[in-house]
This record gives sequence, C-alpha cells and structure tokens, in this order.
Amino acid sequence: MTENTTPRLSEDRLINVPAGFPSTHYAVSQLFTEAASDRLAFWDNQARQLKWTTPWHTTLEWNRPFASWFSGGRLNASENCLDVHMASDTRNKLAVIWEGEGGAITRYTYAELHDEVARFASVLVNTFNIKPGDRVTIYLPLIPQAIVAMLACARVGAIHSVVFGGFSASSLIDRINDSQSRLVITADGGYRRGSVVGLKSIVDQAVECCDSISAVIVVRHTGHDVTMVSGRDFDYTELLHTTHDHYPPIPMSSEDPLFILYTSGTTGKPKGIIHTTGGYLTHAKYSTALVFDLKPVDIYWCTADVGWITGHTYVVYGPLSNGATIMLYEGAPDYPDKDRFWQIINRHKITILYTAPTAIRAFMKWGDHYPHRHDLSSLRLLGSVGEPINPEAWMWYFREIGRNQCPIVDTWWQTETGGIMITTLPGSEPMRPGYAGKALPGITIEILSDTGVRIQNGSGLLTITDPWPSMARGIWGDNERFISTYWSRFNSYFAGDGAATDPEQSIMVLGRVDDVLNVAGHRIGTMEIESALVDFNPIAEAAVVGITDDIKGQAIIAFTILKEGHPITPTLEAEVINWVATSIGAIAKPKRVIFTPDLPKTRSGKIMRRILKGLAEGSPIGDSTTLANPDIVEAIKDLLNKH
Ligand code: WT7
Repeated sequence: MTENTTPRLSEDRLINVPAGFPSTHYAVSQLFTEAASDRLAFWDNQARQLKWTTPWHTTLEWNRPFASWFSGGRLNASENCLDVHMASDTRNKLAVIWEGEGGAITRYTYAELHDEVARFASVLVNTFNIKPGDRVTIYLPLIPQAIVAMLACARVGAIHSVVFGGFSASSLIDRINDSQSRLVITADGGYRRGSVVGLKSIVDQAVECCDSISAVIVVRHTGHDVTMVSGRDFDYTELLHTTHDHYPPIPMSSEDPLFILYTSGTTGKPKGIIHTTGGYLTHAKYSTALVFDLKPVDIYWCTADVGWITGHTYVVYGPLSNGATIMLYEGAPDYPDKDRFWQIINRHKITILYTAPTAIRAFMKWGDHYPHRHDLSSLRLLGSVGEPINPEAWMWYFREIGRNQCPIVDTWWQTETGGIMITTLPGSEPMRPGYAGKALPGITIEILSDTGVRIQNGSGLLTITDPWPSMARGIWGDNERFISTYWSRFNSYFAGDGAATDPEQSIMVLGRVDDVLNVAGHRIGTMEIESALVDFNPIAEAAVVGITDDIKGQAIIAFTILKEGHPITPTLEAEVINWVATSIGAIAKPKRVIFTPDLPKTRSGKIMRRILKGLAEGSPIGDSTTLANPDIVEAIKDLLNKH
C-alpha cells in the first residue's frame, strides 16, 4: 500500500439535504433496488431512453476485459442529441448559451444547432470525403463550433479526437499521428485573459509532421491574420455557406467508436482512450439526468473544456441528449475580474453549476466579497469533479455559493469510465463533505486490499467490479497496455486511485496511487514530464514529484541533473519551465526546478521519488537506508532551502 491510501481526514459532519430541495429518496431507492435485482435489465431500460434505429439483441457480451454492450443495435449520437428534439417544443429551446471572454453572447436553439451540425456534416462528407471510422482531430477554443464539430463527426460516423487547446504543437503531433487523423478542425485563435492564443499557428507547426492530415478547417474566431495554405486550409464559414444540405445521421453500430480521448498514464506516451456509441451514450444520458436531477427549465453550466472527458460527457453528450440548455464560457474565471463566474451565473440565471475543487479553492482564496457582489439565487444544485474536494472547500462552496440551499454532488469518475461512477445523489440522503458517496445504481464498486481482499471498512484500492456500458473499450492501437494498466492487478477494473469506505459503503476517494499527478484537476504523468525534461539539451536526468498545493491540489517539482559542465545560469529554471510548456502544454509546468548533482537511488539504480516528495513537502521521508547514496538527502535539503 502506498502512502496515498492513508485517510487524509476523518470527516463525520453530515449535511442534511437543504429544506427547499425536493426529496428524491423514494425514486432513488427504487433505482437501487431495480439495479440490484437485475443489473442487465436495468441497463436495458436506460438504453431504451435513447433512439435506436435497430434494436440490440444482446445486452452484454463480456470477454474480459473487452465488453460489447447492446450488440446488434444501431443508433447515432448526433441524432440522439439533436434530431430527437426536432419534433417537440425542445426544437425552439436554447441548446447553447455562449459567452466569450470579451463579453459577446451567442445563443443557439436546438433547431439552429441541428442546422449547423447537419450542414457541417454534409461538408465533411461532400468536400472532404470523410467516411465512417475516419479520425478527425478537433483543436478549438471553447466556442459553439467545438460542439458542432464533435456532433458533425458523430453524425457521419467519424471518430473525433478532441485535443485541449492548451496543449503544445508536439502534444498535438503525438495525438494526430497516433490516431492517424485525416483532418484538423481548429480556429485562428482563442482568448485567455485578454490575449490571443494562436491555435492556427500551432496547427501549422504540427501538420508539418503529420502525413495523415490532408486538410485543416479554420473557424474565424479572433479575426487576427493567419496563414492560409491554399489547397490545405479552408475557412469554416465559407465551407458552411456552400451547402444547405442537411446530412442525415448515419446509423452506427452500438460498438462503433464515437471518440478517442487522450489521457496521461504512467509512461511518457498518452493513451488514446476509446469510447463507443451505444454504451457511452446510454450512461451519459442516464447519469446526467440522475446526478444533476435535470429538469426542463434548468440552465446547466459545467465549466469544463470540451478537451477533457468532463466536457465530452457533461457539456456535450449528456446534457444535449437530455434536451438541456447548456452554458459555455470561453475564458478565465478571473477575467476581467475575479467575480466573472458569479456575474455569468446571475446574468444567465444558471441553476446547476458543475466545477472543479481547484477553482473552488481559488475562489475561496480570492474572497467572499466576489460572490457576494452578485445574486446567485438561481442556483439550485452544485457539483464538483476532478480531484478530492477537501471538507473546508466543500463547506465554503455550500455556504457561499449554494447559500446553504443547494445540494453538492461530489462526483468520482475518470476518462476511462466515460461517466460518473460514484456520488451522493442529490436529495436522496445527507451529504458528507470529503466523501464522494456511493456507486450509482447499475455500477458496482469495491475497495480491495493489495492482495485483492474486499475491504468493508477502511482504505484500499478503488475497483469497479462489473462491466458497465460506458467503460473504455481499449487504448487506441495498444490493447496490451489496456490490459496491463487496468486489468492485470485484479479480476475487476483497477482505477489507479486509493479510497476508503465505511460500513455504509460511502466512499472517500484519496487520490492516485500510481505515477500520475492531478494538477488543478488535470491528469499528468510524471514520466511524461520527465521525458520532456531530458529532451532539453542541458538536462541529463530528471525526476518529477507532485507535492500538495493549496489551490491546485498538487504542484509539480522537478529535480534535474545537468550534463557535465553545464552552468546553472540565473535564467535556467525559467528556461526549463518554458521548455516543458512548449513540449507538453502549460498544465505540465513545474512550479520549481531543482538542479542537483545526483538523485536518491537504490543500489539497483531506481530513483526513490518518495524521498524527493518528502523533501520537497518538508514531510518525513521515511526509510532512506536502502539508498546507494544516502548523502544526497542532506544535499537536496540544502538546495531546497537555498532556493
Ligand atoms: C482522476 C481521473 C472525471 C473527470 C475529470 C478528471 C481524480 C476525479 C474525483 C473526485 C476524487 C477524483 C481521480 C481519477 N478524480 N474526480 N470527485 N474525487 N478524485 O478525469 O483526467 O480522467 O482523471 O481524477 O484520481 O482517477 P481524468
């Protein structure tokens, strides 16, 4: 067991469901009963909430670890998010309210979104000859066209691979080449704290190294000048104006991939997680409706970017398949001032807010006067995702943002699970800050010891026992890695997290137990950063650790050994940090870079990161007697203090 699995806190505070929130206790216990009595029949019922053009013949075929859900069935995800609403009043309901960082507001009704998606789908097929199964990379800011692009791909059966706009050219290259995408959809740029991020110029650098790409489609968003390579680069709006043709949704098989989404693992190479159409969409629709207690009048705001799984499932597929109105905000929470979120909530009368603990802790630090400037009484439900939420931040969120009137859903899940696995369903029972809660109806979770023994009261490793519809179907091009990462340790799915449970099966997630960091709710592998560091010419060797950070949850500390004779110049640390930002993206920037003559190693040459972590955090380093070079401990301590 690693040190991460010791409970961080004992939190016995129970918060009752706020009096004004309708009780869902009865309906929720019905669901739990149904799911427990016949799990597959339960999932059949959830899948029936979607529109299928051909019904499935088998609910689940399970050849561990490969699942096939709703085999034989055919459906289209774009049809289920758009066309299904065209025959009802939802047609004229707002699908998207978008606010740009500069304050511009654009609204799309479901009919308008349908029109643009169906026309863009026609462009994909008729102009670019995109076929079912082709991969398309989407590298856009958080603008409505990102959703249009995703749904247009889904409509024609193309597999989208959305790459977060904060990733660098070389990260983009890796993801394009791994997926062998044919097309990139990007924008001239995006806004971040008032300045323009030149996405198109990053794409220009990237496609030089990507033979599979034949064309680049560019959304004009910032309007600044970009190079357009004739015959390769095309203007989105001009393309759209070439057609009024509504391309019909192609019925896809339930198991056809809907998308690939890259996420970091314990090696230097990101994993292309594959999600399929029928199972993924079943869980996306079901879990959104249930966890957010979605009502037709809700104005729902999940603040995630579409570049992450949260943006896929809880910005796009879950809410739109339920006919909800979603809020999209392009920019930073502190631009132009630190009350931007609260202003948006008031301006658009947001009823559900789903955000990350790192944001909540930043808001807390900025001060109560920012939310107090605005009337937040439209809010009725709050959510948290991405990392454990500490009880102090939970209570602040409950009190200052929810005004003691909104339940909080702390939702545990991962890119690989496709959708929420654990939470306390709102209105169903009292909440315990720090505890995510219970497995959703239909999902079975067990906490296991190192040796695979079930723990009913205490801490261990978080596993998912039975297959579930939105489970990852594999890693693009690397089934071996899929098996070894998730399925070799136990019979069940191993998530890589430590967790504690009490006899009532309420789960407290404790964080990663592998070499994966969670910085501001974003997953990043230590190996990925280390391999970027050693690509920097002056660096010979590197070891990266995550230390506790008040706002970001974890911060990255890099220990590096310089090549023989390379001087430590005053600007070297900044140069290294910039290098990492250019190699991976700003999310992977180390907070500090320590230049050390050596790293603590065992006699077999293994770097002991546990010791580095202890030193960087100023916490006990534990046993260091197995080190081949014990003197380095004091030397590194001095370096850290001098810094
Ligand atoms: C990892 C997954 C799920 C979408 C966002 C991140 C951590 C996520 C919680 C939570 C404690 C959480 C886990 C998990 N995590 N939600 N509510 N409580 N930890 O997706 O990038 O795939 O990262 O985020 O460590 O394994 P991701």
